[in-house]
Amino acid sequence: MLVTIEGIDGSGKSSLVTSLGHLLADLSPVITREPGSTWVGDQVRRAVAERADPVTEALLFAADHAAHISTLIRPALREGRLVISDRYSDSRYAYQQETLRESVAYPLAWLRALHAGWTIPPDLTFLIVLPVDAALSRMASGREREHFENHELLSRVQENYLALVQEDPSRFVMVDGLKGEEEIADFVSGVIRDVSGRSRSHRRP
Ligand code: TYD
Repeated sequence: MLVTIEGIDGSGKSSLVTSLGHLLADLSPVITREPGSTWVGDQVRRAVAERADPVTEALLFAADHAAHISTLIRPALREGRLVISDRYSDSRYAYQQETLRESVAYPLAWLRALHAGWTIPPDLTFLIVLPVDAALSRMASGREREHFENHELLSRVQENYLALVQEDPSRFVMVDGLKGEEEIADFVSGVIRDVSGRSRSHRRP
Protein backbone atom coordinates (compact mmCIF):
# COMPACT_ATOMS: atom_id res chain seq x y z
CA MET A 1 0.00 0.00 0.00
CA LEU A 2 1.27 3.44 -0.93
CA VAL A 3 0.61 6.24 1.56
CA THR A 4 1.70 9.81 0.90
CA ILE A 5 1.97 12.79 3.23
CA GLU A 6 1.45 16.24 1.77
CA GLY A 7 1.25 19.81 3.01
CA ILE A 8 2.90 23.19 2.65
CA ASP A 9 6.40 23.91 3.95
CA GLY A 10 6.29 24.16 7.76
CA SER A 11 3.20 21.94 8.04
CA GLY A 12 5.04 19.39 10.18
CA LYS A 13 5.19 16.62 7.56
CA SER A 14 8.73 15.60 8.26
CA SER A 15 8.30 15.12 12.02
CA LEU A 16 5.04 13.25 11.35
CA VAL A 17 6.83 10.86 9.00
CA THR A 18 9.55 10.26 11.60
CA SER A 19 6.88 9.47 14.23
CA LEU A 20 5.08 7.13 11.83
CA GLY A 21 8.32 5.18 11.42
CA HIS A 22 8.26 4.51 15.18
CA LEU A 23 4.52 4.02 15.66
CA LEU A 24 4.22 1.62 12.71
CA ALA A 25 7.57 -0.12 13.23
CA ASP A 26 5.83 -3.51 13.58
CA LEU A 27 4.63 -3.16 9.96
CA SER A 28 8.21 -2.49 8.74
CA PRO A 29 7.16 0.42 6.53
CA VAL A 30 9.44 1.71 3.80
CA ILE A 31 9.81 5.40 4.62
CA THR A 32 10.84 7.61 1.74
CA ARG A 33 10.61 11.15 0.37
CA GLU A 34 10.58 13.38 -2.67
CA PRO A 35 12.86 14.95 -3.70
CA GLY A 36 14.66 11.67 -3.15
CA SER A 37 18.08 10.56 -2.12
CA THR A 38 19.33 9.52 -5.56
CA TRP A 39 21.63 11.64 -7.76
CA VAL A 40 18.48 12.87 -9.54
CA GLY A 41 17.20 14.21 -6.20
CA ASP A 42 20.51 16.04 -5.77
CA GLN A 43 20.01 17.71 -9.14
CA VAL A 44 16.51 18.81 -8.07
CA ARG A 45 17.91 20.42 -4.93
CA ARG A 46 20.57 22.11 -7.03
CA ALA A 47 17.95 23.44 -9.50
CA VAL A 48 15.89 24.82 -6.60
CA ALA A 49 18.94 26.44 -4.97
CA GLU A 50 20.20 27.95 -8.23
CA ARG A 51 16.75 29.17 -9.27
CA ALA A 52 16.62 27.23 -12.53
CA ASP A 53 13.79 28.25 -14.84
CA PRO A 54 10.43 26.82 -13.75
CA VAL A 55 10.10 24.32 -16.61
CA THR A 56 13.56 22.87 -15.93
CA GLU A 57 12.74 22.66 -12.25
CA ALA A 58 9.38 20.94 -12.89
CA LEU A 59 10.96 18.41 -15.27
CA LEU A 60 13.64 17.60 -12.72
CA PHE A 61 11.03 17.06 -9.99
CA ALA A 62 9.24 14.69 -12.40
CA ALA A 63 12.52 12.94 -13.26
CA ASP A 64 13.15 12.46 -9.56
CA HIS A 65 9.66 10.95 -9.26
CA ALA A 66 10.42 8.52 -12.10
CA ALA A 67 13.68 7.45 -10.45
CA HIS A 68 11.90 7.13 -7.11
CA ILE A 69 9.22 4.87 -8.62
CA SER A 70 11.58 2.62 -10.51
CA THR A 71 14.25 2.22 -7.82
CA LEU A 72 12.13 2.14 -4.69
CA ILE A 73 8.33 2.46 -4.89
CA ARG A 74 7.56 -0.23 -7.49
CA PRO A 75 9.91 -2.88 -6.05
CA ALA A 76 8.62 -2.25 -2.50
CA LEU A 77 4.96 -2.45 -3.56
CA ARG A 78 5.68 -5.66 -5.47
CA GLU A 79 6.97 -7.14 -2.24
CA GLY A 80 3.71 -6.14 -0.56
CA ARG A 81 5.40 -3.55 1.67
CA LEU A 82 3.72 -0.53 3.22
CA VAL A 83 5.36 2.52 1.64
CA ILE A 84 5.07 5.98 3.22
CA SER A 85 6.35 8.91 1.17
CA ASP A 86 6.97 12.42 2.51
CA ARG A 87 5.73 14.34 -0.59
CA TYR A 88 4.79 12.71 -3.90
CA SER A 89 3.00 13.68 -7.13
CA ASP A 90 0.50 15.99 -5.40
CA SER A 91 3.45 18.23 -4.48
CA ARG A 92 3.99 18.84 -8.20
CA TYR A 93 0.28 19.43 -8.79
CA ALA A 94 0.16 21.94 -5.92
CA TYR A 95 3.55 23.72 -6.16
CA GLN A 96 4.44 23.56 -9.87
CA GLN A 97 0.93 24.57 -10.80
CA GLU A 98 1.99 27.93 -9.31
CA THR A 99 5.63 28.13 -10.35
CA LEU A 100 4.70 27.29 -13.97
CA ARG A 101 1.92 29.84 -14.21
CA GLU A 102 3.96 32.29 -16.31
CA SER A 103 5.62 29.62 -18.44
CA VAL A 104 2.91 27.13 -19.37
CA ALA A 105 -0.67 27.78 -20.51
CA TYR A 106 -2.47 25.11 -18.46
CA PRO A 107 -0.02 24.07 -15.77
CA LEU A 108 -2.16 21.45 -14.01
CA ALA A 109 -3.13 19.73 -17.27
CA TRP A 110 0.53 19.87 -18.37
CA LEU A 111 1.67 18.33 -15.10
CA ARG A 112 -0.94 15.59 -15.23
CA ALA A 113 0.02 14.74 -18.80
CA LEU A 114 3.68 14.63 -17.71
CA HIS A 115 2.85 11.96 -15.11
CA ALA A 116 0.30 10.01 -17.14
CA GLY A 117 1.01 6.40 -17.98
CA TRP A 118 3.90 5.73 -15.62
CA THR A 119 3.24 7.22 -12.22
CA ILE A 120 1.73 5.04 -9.48
CA PRO A 121 -1.18 6.82 -7.79
CA PRO A 122 -1.18 6.71 -3.98
CA ASP A 123 -3.78 4.58 -2.21
CA LEU A 124 -4.12 7.08 0.60
CA THR A 125 -2.93 10.67 1.03
CA PHE A 126 -2.84 12.70 4.24
CA LEU A 127 -2.97 16.44 3.68
CA ILE A 128 -1.86 18.52 6.64
CA VAL A 129 -3.69 21.84 6.61
CA LEU A 130 -2.85 24.86 8.76
CA PRO A 131 -2.84 28.66 8.43
CA VAL A 132 0.09 29.82 6.28
CA ASP A 133 1.21 32.23 9.03
CA ALA A 134 1.51 29.36 11.47
CA ALA A 135 3.52 27.32 8.96
CA LEU A 136 5.88 30.19 8.20
CA SER A 137 6.47 30.95 11.86
CA ARG A 138 7.50 27.32 12.41
CA MET A 139 10.30 27.54 9.87
CA ALA A 140 13.65 28.13 11.47
CA SER A 141 14.33 31.84 11.37
CA GLY A 142 17.77 32.82 10.22
CA ARG A 143 18.21 30.02 7.70
CA GLU A 144 18.01 30.91 4.05
CA ARG A 145 14.54 30.28 2.65
CA GLU A 146 13.82 28.39 -0.54
CA HIS A 147 11.95 30.45 -3.09
CA PHE A 148 8.81 28.42 -2.31
CA GLU A 149 8.72 29.62 1.26
CA ASN A 150 6.73 32.85 1.06
CA HIS A 151 3.23 33.68 2.18
CA GLU A 152 1.65 34.35 -1.19
CA LEU A 153 2.98 31.25 -2.90
CA LEU A 154 2.23 28.94 0.02
CA SER A 155 -1.35 30.28 0.26
CA ARG A 156 -1.92 29.39 -3.38
CA VAL A 157 -0.19 26.05 -2.98
CA GLN A 158 -2.49 25.21 -0.06
CA GLU A 159 -5.53 26.22 -2.14
CA ASN A 160 -4.31 23.94 -4.91
CA TYR A 161 -4.00 21.09 -2.42
CA LEU A 162 -7.57 21.71 -1.23
CA ALA A 163 -8.81 21.65 -4.83
CA LEU A 164 -7.09 18.29 -5.32
CA VAL A 165 -9.01 16.97 -2.31
CA GLN A 166 -12.28 18.14 -3.87
CA GLU A 167 -11.45 16.26 -7.05
CA ASP A 168 -10.57 12.99 -5.37
CA PRO A 169 -12.07 13.04 -1.84
CA SER A 170 -11.92 9.28 -1.28
CA ARG A 171 -8.11 9.23 -1.52
CA PHE A 172 -7.48 12.10 0.89
CA VAL A 173 -7.63 12.43 4.65
CA MET A 174 -7.30 16.00 5.89
CA VAL A 175 -5.36 16.57 9.08
CA ASP A 176 -5.56 19.67 11.28
CA GLY A 177 -1.94 20.79 11.43
CA LEU A 178 -2.54 22.93 14.53
CA LYS A 179 -3.18 19.85 16.66
CA GLY A 180 -0.33 18.51 18.77
CA GLU A 181 2.36 16.44 17.09
CA GLU A 182 1.54 13.35 19.13
CA GLU A 183 -2.19 13.57 18.49
CA ILE A 184 -1.61 13.91 14.75
CA ALA A 185 0.80 10.98 14.66
CA ASP A 186 -1.59 8.74 16.64
CA PHE A 187 -4.49 9.63 14.35
CA VAL A 188 -2.57 9.13 11.10
CA SER A 189 -1.00 5.86 12.21
CA GLY A 190 -4.45 4.61 13.29
CA VAL A 191 -5.97 5.38 9.89
CA ILE A 192 -3.05 3.66 8.12
CA ARG A 193 -3.58 0.56 10.26
CA ASP A 194 -7.32 0.57 9.56
CA VAL A 195 -6.95 1.04 5.82
CA SER A 196 -4.11 -1.44 5.45
CA GLY A 197 -6.06 -4.00 7.49
CA ARG A 198 -3.00 -4.60 9.62
CA SER A 199 -4.01 -4.18 13.22
CA ARG A 200 -1.88 -3.50 16.23
CA SER A 201 -2.40 -7.10 17.41
CA HIS A 202 0.41 -8.16 15.06
CA ARG A 203 2.79 -6.38 17.37
CA ARG A 204 4.78 -8.54 19.74
CA PRO A 205 3.95 -7.89 23.43
P1 TYD B 1 11.61 19.28 0.80
O1 TYD B 1 13.09 19.15 0.82
O2 TYD B 1 10.77 18.05 0.99
O3 TYD B 1 11.22 20.36 1.89
P2 TYD B 1 10.19 20.20 3.07
O4 TYD B 1 10.99 19.57 4.15
O5 TYD B 1 9.75 21.60 3.35
O6 TYD B 1 9.08 19.33 2.58
O7 TYD B 1 11.13 19.98 -0.51
C1 TYD B 1 11.80 21.12 -0.93
C2 TYD B 1 10.85 22.06 -1.58
O8 TYD B 1 10.47 21.53 -2.84
C3 TYD B 1 9.58 22.33 -0.81
O9 TYD B 1 9.45 23.73 -0.68
C4 TYD B 1 8.49 21.81 -1.70
C5 TYD B 1 9.10 21.78 -3.05
N1 TYD B 1 8.60 20.73 -3.98
C6 TYD B 1 8.00 21.13 -5.15
O10 TYD B 1 7.86 22.32 -5.44
N2 TYD B 1 7.56 20.18 -6.02
C7 TYD B 1 7.70 18.86 -5.77
O11 TYD B 1 7.28 18.03 -6.59
C8 TYD B 1 8.32 18.46 -4.55
C9 TYD B 1 8.52 17.00 -4.25
C10 TYD B 1 8.77 19.42 -3.67
